[in-house]
Amino acid sequence: MVSTRFLWGAASAAYQVEGAWQADGKGLSNWDLYTNVYRATESVTGRQETGNVAINAYDRAQYLADIALMRELGINCYRFSLSWARILPDGVGRVNEAGVAHYQRFVDDLLAAGIEPVVTLYHWDLPRALDDRGGWYNRESVGWFRNYASIVREALGDRVSKFITFNEPFIDLFLIEPMVDNIKLGVGSPFAITDAHYAQQAVALHHWLVASAETIGDFRAAGYTGEIGVALPLMPTIPENPGKSEDIRAAALADAVINRWCLDALFKGRYPIEVMTTFRQLNPDFAPFEADFGILAANKPDFLGVNFYAPAYVRQDEAAPLGYNWFDTNPDPEPAAFNGPVRPDYLRRLLERIRDEYGNPAIYITENGAGFGPVDEQMVGDSVHDPRRANYIRRHIEAALKAKENGVDLRGYMVWSLFDNFEWLQGYGRRFGLVHVDFDTQRRTPKRSFDAYREIIAQGGVTT
Ligand code: NOJ
Repeated sequence: MVSTRFLWGAASAAYQVEGAWQADGKGLSNWDLYTNVYRATESVTGRQETGNVAINAYDRAQYLADIALMRELGINCYRFSLSWARILPDGVGRVNEAGVAHYQRFVDDLLAAGIEPVVTLYHWDLPRALDDRGGWYNRESVGWFRNYASIVREALGDRVSKFITFNEPFIDLFLIEPMVDNIKLGVGSPFAITDAHYAQQAVALHHWLVASAETIGDFRAAGYTGEIGVALPLMPTIPENPGKSEDIRAAALADAVINRWCLDALFKGRYPIEVMTTFRQLNPDFAPFEADFGILAANKPDFLGVNFYAPAYVRQDEAAPLGYNWFDTNPDPEPAAFNGPVRPDYLRRLLERIRDEYGNPAIYITENGAGFGPVDEQMVGDSVHDPRRANYIRRHIEAALKAKENGVDLRGYMVWSLFDNFEWLQGYGRRFGLVHVDFDTQRRTPKRSFDAYREIIAQGGVTT
């Protein structure tokens, strides 16, 4: 079942593209609430946008047209996530057959077009009913997730050869969720993330990791013959001032928390000592978690999904959680691509580091892309000129293929994203697509970066 060809693809997530938020028996998710209830009064950007319609990707006529564009692009895989609340409206209990049938049809339509589905089980949209029960902070979340994953395995496991349990634990739990909480609670600045958030979310992250490991074990025990992995946001950390010992220490701690925490958990079955010490100081409840390390060690993923956008320049900042900060720092002359500085050289270094420190696991780049803002989205005639995005993608693919030449077991590259879509806290104000979407008419217009990526794929890589 597992193919060996290099995968060229694009990635997306249910809440960001599907729309149809109340269609065919779907339950509500935390994001349906955040956007329709909390953000109706206040938001990070001042916009009041929802994923209620998004880019209409739930609609079959629409997604068949989108699949035709995928074929034109030449990709051979498509990564997308499932809406848990579409499958289990209350998170547990009754299965919504219409939701299951939708995903079966979508997978079959992709396969018929020669495109391999890569399915993420969880990309940040939790059924509201489970959110009400404490969400990921509640240890029962491990069982809720295993139950949901087993329903998906039975429905799709015969035709999907790659599953991803979780997407970007660190970013969702330590950045996005605390900001949403601040909005809910009316805290002045949504960006005011505190040690208290960190202490709470550490418990939630632990539950994600245990749920992921248990699910990997369940898939294997059930005889699943495909591959199952996890997608991490990985950000090499660089001291903003390399001559300042405080920044060097801050960058090392940031590396332990942002990168090594999950990497060590997945591939070594334990947490870095700095993480244990730091979080025990913040939250004594963190201590007994060592009891679960056996579960992590026994169920390592088949592959690592690397989401890479940028490295992080880190500085000491006593006012920030854990005493460091990396938001909005970019000492480089080149403008940042929204998610950080443009440094493809750090993608190569990161991949080689994983090769050396984590036993050279199979790697797919499950996300890489750029949203530079309106300056890079110029409509010229019937086309969108986005030279910075095209350049960003080309340079990162080149760096990734260099790492592959150097022995990294790299098996695929997926761009974020094929279509402009709902960018969480920034709503529709930040575009990442290779295809422009007019959100009022749903009209799709390929950008120049679409042509650039198509050429790269056709050539089997980057020719320099
Ligand atoms: C990572 C997340 O997985 C994705 O949902 C998001 O849209 C991109 N980064 C771009 O910020």
